[in-house]
Amino acid sequence: MAGTAQAQPNIALIKYWGKRDTALNLPATGSLSVTLDSLWTRTRVEFDALLKCDELRLNDMPAPAALARVSACLDSLRALAGVETRARIESYNNFPTAAGLASSASGFAALVVAASAALDLRLNRRILSSLARRGSGSAARSLFGGYVLLTTHRSGSGLDATPRSLLPGKDWPLEMVIAVTSRSAKPVSSRAGMEISRRTSPFYNEWVANSDADLAIAQAAVLAHDFAALAAVSEHNCLKMHAVMMSSRPALMYWNAATLECMHRIRDLRERDGVRTFFTIDAGPQVKAVCVSEDAERVAKALADVPGVATILRSRLGEGARLLRESEREVA
Ligand code: PMV
Repeated sequence: MAGTAQAQPNIALIKYWGKRDTALNLPATGSLSVTLDSLWTRTRVEFDALLKCDELRLNDMPAPAALARVSACLDSLRALAGVETRARIESYNNFPTAAGLASSASGFAALVVAASAALDLRLNRRILSSLARRGSGSAARSLFGGYVLLTTHRSGSGLDATPRSLLPGKDWPLEMVIAVTSRSAKPVSSRAGMEISRRTSPFYNEWVANSDADLAIAQAAVLAHDFAALAAVSEHNCLKMHAVMMSSRPALMYWNAATLECMHRIRDLRERDGVRTFFTIDAGPQVKAVCVSEDAERVAKALADVPGVATILRSRLGEGARLLRESEREVA
């Protein structure tokens, strides 16, 4: 009763920030993301009748703080399989954890794929995606590769958010250059932060009301491979989300000085030098520059020069979460 899976984080270009239903973890808005390639989480899940409770190790260390959410996610799978057996979970990230690099997205996507295989549940990607969403809203998107759209129903019973692949990555092979400006875990988790924003930001309702319009523009830009249109709507949507964060009480300020400097550098590269790149930033200080492949090297060099940038990570677009074969099961 064991399975091992790999999933890559995804980065939203049109973001969700705020939930419509906290119990089901349903996002208040739709979102559009790209799944990465070179950053990954690998997770092995083994159900063992001798265990009294679930055990979780993350990057070779016990991870009690994350256990409750992981166990709750496994409970949904156990219910589907009709078992109560506890599990040993070992998970590795090849990139900084909980630092605004979407490790919870790849983490929960890998978890549900590994656990469902271990329980011999034959679930399709949509069901796996909705199970992963219970753990982390953005994890729903890491079940799919390339450009991914997660729509949300606002009327009727709307029991689910629906993810689908919009375009395979190979059809428009953009790249991502990530400027890591801090390796520390973020002070306020996305889950807690978006709830604070929903309750306190005077801009929250506007943010939700405007999201569908951004999503439609971004979706059309992706399908038309229109980089300039995608750049404009993505930066706008990202800055709106950060305006909601900053106008929350207490204020959620995820940026540091290097974050802001990277944003200026990316805008200068685009507006002054004609480099095809734009930024996006999540609930953390890292800056993700989306670029056309030919310009990625130049963007990486420019961001590496920004004071306060600790390291540069690069990634092409990748596939959705998948089960690893026996020969691929080396986790580290
Ligand atoms: O997946 P969560 O619940 O940790 O929230 C993700 C929030 C953002 O990364 C800021 C936006 C997004 O759509 O991924």
